[in-house]
Amino acid sequence: MRLRSATVPTDVRPRLNREVTSFVRRSARMSDSLRNRYDAQVGGLVVDVPQGALRTSVADDAAPLDLPMIFGRTAPVVVEIGCGPGDSLVPMARARPDLDLLAFEVFEPAAAALVARAVREDVTNVRVAPVDAVAGLERLVAPGSLTEVWTFFPDPWPKLKHHKRRLVDPAFADLVASRLRPGGRWRLATDWAEYADRMRDVVGGHPAFAAEPEDRGDRPVTRFERRGLAEDRPIADLVYRRVG
Ligand SMILES: C[S@@+](CC[C@H](N)C(=O)[O-])C[C@H]1O[C@@H](n2cnc3c(N)ncnc32)[C@H](O)[C@@H]1O
Repeated sequence: MRLRSATVPTDVRPRLNREVTSFVRRSARMSDSLRNRYDAQVGGLVVDVPQGALRTSVADDAAPLDLPMIFGRTAPVVVEIGCGPGDSLVPMARARPDLDLLAFEVFEPAAAALVARAVREDVTNVRVAPVDAVAGLERLVAPGSLTEVWTFFPDPWPKLKHHKRRLVDPAFADLVASRLRPGGRWRLATDWAEYADRMRDVVGGHPAFAAEPEDRGDRPVTRFERRGLAEDRPIADLVYRRVG
Protein backbone atom coordinates (compact mmCIF):
# COMPACT_ATOMS: atom_id res chain seq x y z
CA MET A 1 0.00 0.00 0.00
CA ARG A 2 1.43 3.36 -0.94
CA LEU A 3 0.65 6.17 1.47
CA ARG A 4 -1.09 9.11 -0.15
CA SER A 5 -2.86 11.08 2.52
CA ALA A 6 -2.58 14.69 3.67
CA THR A 7 -0.92 13.31 6.76
CA VAL A 8 2.79 12.78 6.22
CA PRO A 9 3.66 9.12 6.66
CA THR A 10 6.21 8.35 9.35
CA ASP A 11 7.02 4.96 7.96
CA VAL A 12 7.33 4.00 4.34
CA ARG A 13 7.33 0.52 2.98
CA PRO A 14 10.92 -0.63 2.33
CA ARG A 15 11.89 -0.71 -1.33
CA LEU A 16 15.22 -2.45 -0.82
CA ASN A 17 14.11 -5.50 -2.72
CA ARG A 18 12.65 -3.58 -5.63
CA GLU A 19 14.16 -4.88 -8.83
CA VAL A 20 14.52 -1.49 -10.48
CA THR A 21 16.95 1.03 -9.05
CA SER A 22 17.95 4.54 -10.08
CA PHE A 23 21.51 3.41 -10.71
CA VAL A 24 23.39 0.64 -12.43
CA ARG A 25 26.33 -0.88 -10.64
CA ARG A 26 29.53 0.39 -12.18
CA SER A 27 32.99 -0.94 -11.45
CA ALA A 28 34.50 1.16 -8.72
CA ARG A 29 38.12 1.53 -9.72
CA MET A 30 40.09 4.02 -7.69
CA SER A 31 43.77 4.81 -7.50
CA ASP A 32 45.50 3.27 -4.49
CA SER A 33 46.09 6.72 -3.10
CA LEU A 34 42.41 7.75 -3.35
CA ARG A 35 41.32 4.35 -1.98
CA ASN A 36 43.65 4.70 1.02
CA ARG A 37 42.50 8.25 1.79
CA TYR A 38 38.85 7.14 1.49
CA ASP A 39 39.28 4.05 3.67
CA ALA A 40 41.03 6.16 6.30
CA GLN A 41 37.86 8.27 6.59
CA VAL A 42 35.47 5.37 7.31
CA GLY A 43 33.95 6.29 10.65
CA GLY A 44 35.04 9.90 9.98
CA LEU A 45 33.69 11.70 6.92
CA VAL A 46 32.50 8.33 5.52
CA VAL A 47 29.58 7.04 7.57
CA ASP A 48 30.12 3.42 8.58
CA VAL A 49 26.72 2.05 7.51
CA PRO A 50 25.62 -1.48 8.42
CA GLN A 51 25.56 -2.97 4.92
CA GLY A 52 23.10 -5.49 3.54
CA ALA A 53 23.78 -8.21 0.99
CA LEU A 54 25.18 -5.74 -1.54
CA ARG A 55 27.89 -3.14 -1.00
CA THR A 56 25.40 -0.36 -1.75
CA SER A 57 22.52 -1.76 0.34
CA VAL A 58 21.64 -1.12 3.97
CA ALA A 59 21.10 -3.90 6.51
CA ASP A 60 17.42 -4.64 7.14
CA ASP A 61 17.82 -4.07 10.87
CA ALA A 62 19.90 -0.87 10.62
CA ALA A 63 18.90 1.76 13.19
CA PRO A 64 18.61 5.49 12.40
CA LEU A 65 21.98 7.22 12.49
CA ASP A 66 22.98 9.14 15.60
CA LEU A 67 23.56 12.36 13.68
CA PRO A 68 24.78 14.50 16.63
CA MET A 69 27.38 11.81 17.32
CA ILE A 70 28.38 11.56 13.66
CA PHE A 71 28.74 15.33 13.22
CA GLY A 72 29.99 15.99 16.74
CA ARG A 73 27.31 18.60 17.38
CA THR A 74 23.57 19.27 17.05
CA ALA A 75 22.68 21.36 13.99
CA PRO A 76 19.97 21.37 11.29
CA VAL A 77 20.62 18.49 8.89
CA VAL A 78 20.36 18.56 5.09
CA VAL A 79 20.48 15.37 3.02
CA GLU A 80 21.77 15.42 -0.55
CA ILE A 81 20.67 12.48 -2.69
CA GLY A 82 23.32 11.43 -5.22
CA CYS A 83 25.95 14.06 -4.52
CA GLY A 84 28.42 12.83 -7.18
CA PRO A 85 31.90 14.18 -6.46
CA GLY A 86 30.48 16.98 -4.30
CA ASP A 87 30.54 19.85 -6.80
CA SER A 88 27.46 21.29 -5.07
CA LEU A 89 27.85 19.80 -1.64
CA VAL A 90 31.33 20.96 -0.67
CA PRO A 91 30.94 24.65 -1.66
CA MET A 92 27.42 24.76 -0.18
CA ALA A 93 28.66 23.19 3.07
CA ARG A 94 31.50 25.71 3.25
CA ALA A 95 29.03 28.57 2.68
CA ARG A 96 26.67 27.28 5.40
CA PRO A 97 28.74 26.27 8.44
CA ASP A 98 25.54 26.37 10.51
CA LEU A 99 24.21 23.26 8.69
CA ASP A 100 25.28 19.62 8.74
CA LEU A 101 25.17 17.93 5.32
CA LEU A 102 24.74 14.20 4.88
CA ALA A 103 25.07 12.81 1.35
CA PHE A 104 24.03 9.46 -0.06
CA GLU A 105 26.11 8.36 -3.06
CA VAL A 106 26.31 4.84 -4.46
CA PHE A 107 29.33 5.34 -6.71
CA GLU A 108 32.35 4.95 -4.46
CA PRO A 109 34.88 6.84 -6.62
CA ALA A 110 32.54 9.86 -6.55
CA ALA A 111 32.12 9.56 -2.76
CA ALA A 112 35.92 9.30 -2.49
CA ALA A 113 36.40 12.43 -4.62
CA LEU A 114 33.95 14.27 -2.37
CA VAL A 115 35.82 13.17 0.74
CA ALA A 116 39.21 14.12 -0.73
CA ARG A 117 37.90 17.57 -1.62
CA ALA A 118 36.32 18.14 1.79
CA VAL A 119 39.59 17.18 3.50
CA ARG A 120 41.64 19.35 1.12
CA GLU A 121 39.38 22.36 1.68
CA ASP A 122 38.98 21.70 5.41
CA VAL A 123 35.17 21.50 5.17
CA THR A 124 34.10 19.67 8.31
CA ASN A 125 30.28 19.71 8.16
CA VAL A 126 29.83 17.03 5.46
CA ARG A 127 29.51 13.26 5.72
CA VAL A 128 28.85 10.69 2.99
CA ALA A 129 27.00 7.39 3.30
CA PRO A 130 28.00 5.22 0.29
CA VAL A 131 24.67 3.40 -0.04
CA ASP A 132 21.38 3.57 -1.92
CA ALA A 133 19.61 6.76 -0.91
CA VAL A 134 16.17 5.11 -0.85
CA ALA A 135 17.18 2.49 1.71
CA GLY A 136 19.35 5.10 3.46
CA LEU A 137 16.48 7.54 3.91
CA GLU A 138 14.12 4.77 5.02
CA ARG A 139 16.41 3.10 7.54
CA LEU A 140 19.10 5.57 8.55
CA VAL A 141 17.18 8.85 8.82
CA ALA A 142 14.55 9.37 11.50
CA PRO A 143 11.08 10.61 10.42
CA GLY A 144 10.61 14.37 10.60
CA SER A 145 14.30 15.08 11.20
CA LEU A 146 15.59 16.92 8.11
CA THR A 147 15.58 20.62 7.45
CA GLU A 148 16.15 20.17 3.68
CA VAL A 149 16.59 17.45 1.06
CA TRP A 150 18.49 18.21 -2.15
CA THR A 151 18.17 16.19 -5.36
CA PHE A 152 20.35 17.95 -7.93
CA PHE A 153 20.60 16.46 -11.42
CA PRO A 154 19.37 12.96 -10.62
CA ASP A 155 20.18 10.53 -13.43
CA PRO A 156 17.57 11.46 -16.07
CA TRP A 157 16.99 8.05 -17.67
CA PRO A 158 15.59 9.82 -20.76
CA LYS A 159 14.37 6.75 -22.67
CA LEU A 160 10.73 5.91 -22.01
CA LYS A 161 11.55 2.28 -21.21
CA HIS A 162 13.96 3.51 -18.47
CA HIS A 163 11.62 6.01 -16.81
CA LYS A 164 10.87 3.41 -14.14
CA ARG A 165 14.48 3.83 -12.96
CA ARG A 166 14.01 7.50 -12.16
CA LEU A 167 14.50 8.38 -8.54
CA VAL A 168 11.71 10.95 -8.30
CA ASP A 169 8.39 9.11 -8.31
CA PRO A 170 5.34 9.15 -6.00
CA ALA A 171 6.79 6.60 -3.55
CA PHE A 172 10.03 8.59 -3.26
CA ALA A 173 8.03 11.79 -2.69
CA ASP A 174 6.21 10.01 0.18
CA LEU A 175 9.58 9.02 1.63
CA VAL A 176 11.10 12.50 1.38
CA ALA A 177 7.94 14.04 2.90
CA SER A 178 8.18 11.65 5.83
CA ARG A 179 11.82 12.52 6.57
CA LEU A 180 11.48 16.32 6.34
CA ARG A 181 10.45 18.29 9.40
CA PRO A 182 7.24 20.33 9.00
CA GLY A 183 8.24 23.43 7.01
CA GLY A 184 11.34 21.69 5.62
CA ARG A 185 12.22 22.14 1.96
CA TRP A 186 12.90 19.79 -0.95
CA ARG A 187 15.09 21.34 -3.65
CA LEU A 188 15.40 19.61 -7.00
CA ALA A 189 17.29 20.53 -10.17
CA THR A 190 17.35 18.95 -13.60
CA ASP A 191 18.33 19.83 -17.14
CA TRP A 192 15.72 17.49 -18.67
CA ALA A 193 12.53 19.49 -19.31
CA GLU A 194 10.34 16.41 -19.42
CA TYR A 195 11.74 15.14 -16.08
CA ALA A 196 11.19 18.62 -14.62
CA ASP A 197 7.54 18.44 -15.68
CA ARG A 198 7.25 15.00 -14.10
CA MET A 199 8.73 16.40 -10.86
CA ARG A 200 6.23 19.27 -10.95
CA ASP A 201 3.40 16.73 -11.35
CA VAL A 202 4.65 14.29 -8.70
CA VAL A 203 5.88 16.68 -6.02
CA GLY A 204 3.64 19.64 -6.84
CA GLY A 205 0.62 17.30 -6.76
CA HIS A 206 1.62 15.65 -3.48
CA PRO A 207 -0.57 16.67 -0.52
CA ALA A 208 2.45 17.07 1.78
CA PHE A 209 4.19 19.65 -0.45
CA ALA A 210 3.51 23.23 -1.50
CA ALA A 211 5.42 24.72 -4.41
CA GLU A 212 7.60 27.76 -3.81
CA PRO A 213 8.99 30.06 -6.53
CA GLU A 214 11.51 28.22 -8.69
CA ASP A 215 14.97 29.43 -7.64
CA ARG A 216 18.52 28.05 -7.85
CA GLY A 217 19.45 29.89 -4.64
CA ASP A 218 23.06 29.27 -3.65
CA ARG A 219 23.50 26.19 -5.85
CA PRO A 220 26.79 26.33 -7.79
CA VAL A 221 27.09 25.27 -11.44
CA THR A 222 28.21 21.63 -11.61
CA ARG A 223 29.67 19.60 -14.46
CA PHE A 224 26.25 17.99 -15.05
CA GLU A 225 24.61 21.39 -15.35
CA ARG A 226 27.38 22.59 -17.68
CA ARG A 227 26.79 19.58 -19.91
CA GLY A 228 23.07 20.35 -20.08
CA LEU A 229 23.71 24.00 -20.89
CA ALA A 230 26.21 23.04 -23.61
CA GLU A 231 23.48 20.92 -25.19
CA ASP A 232 20.92 23.76 -24.91
CA ARG A 233 18.82 22.11 -22.23
CA PRO A 234 17.14 24.60 -19.90
CA ILE A 235 17.82 24.18 -16.18
CA ALA A 236 14.86 23.84 -13.81
CA ASP A 237 15.35 24.54 -10.09
CA LEU A 238 12.26 23.43 -8.17
CA VAL A 239 11.52 24.18 -4.52
CA TYR A 240 8.79 22.58 -2.38
CA ARG A 241 7.94 23.09 1.27
CA ARG A 242 6.54 20.36 3.47
CA VAL A 243 3.15 21.50 4.69
CA GLY A 244 0.88 19.88 7.23
C1 LIG B 1 23.97 12.87 -12.66
S1 LIG B 1 24.81 12.65 -11.16
C2 LIG B 1 24.58 14.22 -10.32
C3 LIG B 1 25.60 14.49 -9.24
C4 LIG B 1 25.42 15.78 -8.42
N1 LIG B 1 24.13 15.82 -7.75
C5 LIG B 1 25.61 17.02 -9.25
O1 LIG B 1 24.64 17.74 -9.47
O2 LIG B 1 26.74 17.26 -9.66
C6 LIG B 1 23.72 11.56 -10.26
C7 LIG B 1 24.40 10.87 -9.09
O3 LIG B 1 23.42 10.18 -8.32
C8 LIG B 1 23.98 8.93 -7.91
N2 LIG B 1 22.83 8.05 -7.59
C9 LIG B 1 21.91 7.56 -8.45
N3 LIG B 1 20.98 6.83 -7.81
C10 LIG B 1 21.33 6.85 -6.49
C11 LIG B 1 20.77 6.26 -5.32
N4 LIG B 1 19.66 5.53 -5.37
N5 LIG B 1 21.38 6.48 -4.14
C12 LIG B 1 22.52 7.23 -4.07
N6 LIG B 1 23.11 7.80 -5.16
C13 LIG B 1 22.51 7.62 -6.34
C14 LIG B 1 24.84 8.50 -9.07
O4 LIG B 1 25.83 7.56 -8.70
C15 LIG B 1 25.44 9.85 -9.51
O5 LIG B 1 26.65 10.12 -8.86
